[in-house]
Amino acid sequence: MTPLSDTFGRALRNLRISVTDRCNLRCQYCMPEEDYVWLARENILQFEEVGALVDVFADLGVDKVRLTGGEPLLRRDLADLVQLLARKPRIRDLALTTNGVLLAERAPALRAAGLHRVTVSLDTLRPERFRALTRRPSHAQVLEGLRAVSAAGFSGTKVDTVVMRGVNEDELADLIEYGKTVAAEVRFIEYMDVGGATRWSMEAVVSRAEMLKSLERRYGRIDPVVEPSAAPADRYRLPDGTVFGIISSTTAPFCESCDRSRLTADGLWYLCLYALRGIDLRGPLRQGVSAAELKALITGSWRARDDRGAEERLRNRHRTPLIALTELKRDPHLEMHTRGG
Ligand code: GTP
Ligand code: 5AD
Ligand code: SF4
Repeated sequence: MTPLSDTFGRALRNLRISVTDRCNLRCQYCMPEEDYVWLARENILQFEEVGALVDVFADLGVDKVRLTGGEPLLRRDLADLVQLLARKPRIRDLALTTNGVLLAERAPALRAAGLHRVTVSLDTLRPERFRALTRRPSHAQVLEGLRAVSAAGFSGTKVDTVVMRGVNEDELADLIEYGKTVAAEVRFIEYMDVGGATRWSMEAVVSRAEMLKSLERRYGRIDPVVEPSAAPADRYRLPDGTVFGIISSTTAPFCESCDRSRLTADGLWYLCLYALRGIDLRGPLRQGVSAAELKALITGSWRARDDRGAEERLRNRHRTPLIALTELKRDPHLEMHTRGG
């Protein structure tokens, strides 16, 4: 099969599927407000509908699927969806991004259902900080969740940490050390000005350069891991061999090699994290169009794709949050928790 390419020659390989816009945390950088407009319940895709869309995407070259949210484990029967997708041999990598709160009890079932990898978002090792950052008291549950992932026998586990100045930039080394205890690779993410981050400012961003400098003070020389990849993280090796990653979406975006797109829980397909509009796949699917017609819609859209959202943001010299709160309320699809972080 000739891979489907966009206008910059980027292949369509990686599909992030949000299964719910709901979340059981309220992280400052993602859901800082008091109340939210939620997606209409009747529009949320059934697992069979997700499966049908994944078949079409797989026909077009997608071989990596990541389940996201909101918090994906809020879909109670998520293991059923995992099982349905794990049976598709063309999906070679099936992963989950979760905040970890519900993971302890669910990790074994997810593993049994055929999930390959888990990434847990964790921004601090300090319970009080966690409470301030997420407005929920669930820190111990997340740590328990990570232990359960490692006990359930998963490999390739990652911990994702959004680094914010004045919040957690003093915990980088502690998090790396913690990662070793749960067999997880830690990745530090630059704070992004995406939808939902209504309190974002450039001053709060800790750049990759700054993170490296601070880690070198603690560990000594840090070497980049040289590897070809479309993954967002640049990986580095400490003198003792430990590898960690930095996702520098804000100061050094990776749009050039971006092979990912996103499906919201209600079936809108977004070609960029920063895109203002998505392509409705739920409508045609529910109208009963053929797989060939869906394929044509997806093919045409991907061929025309010219998004470089994060790079365009970088050209903006006086950067303020991407989307105003009033706009977010009018269209919840603009929220990061709707399109999957
Ligand atoms: P693997 O490399 O396969 O493990 O997946 P991943 O790195 O895509 O997974 P993950 O969900 O852990 O993504 C990590 C973080 O990178 C996200 O939570 C975002 O903060 C950021 N990120 C992911 N996708 C994009 C993207 O398309 N654009 C930008 N700018 N940032 C992204
Ligand atoms: N900046 C960076 N990452 C973000 N995420 C959500 N909002 C932001 C933001 N403003 C990502 C993080 C987090 C996941 C849930 O979503 O990776 O771990
Ligand atoms: Fe891809 Fe858009 Fe993210 Fe750039 S900003 S890496 S194009 S999703």
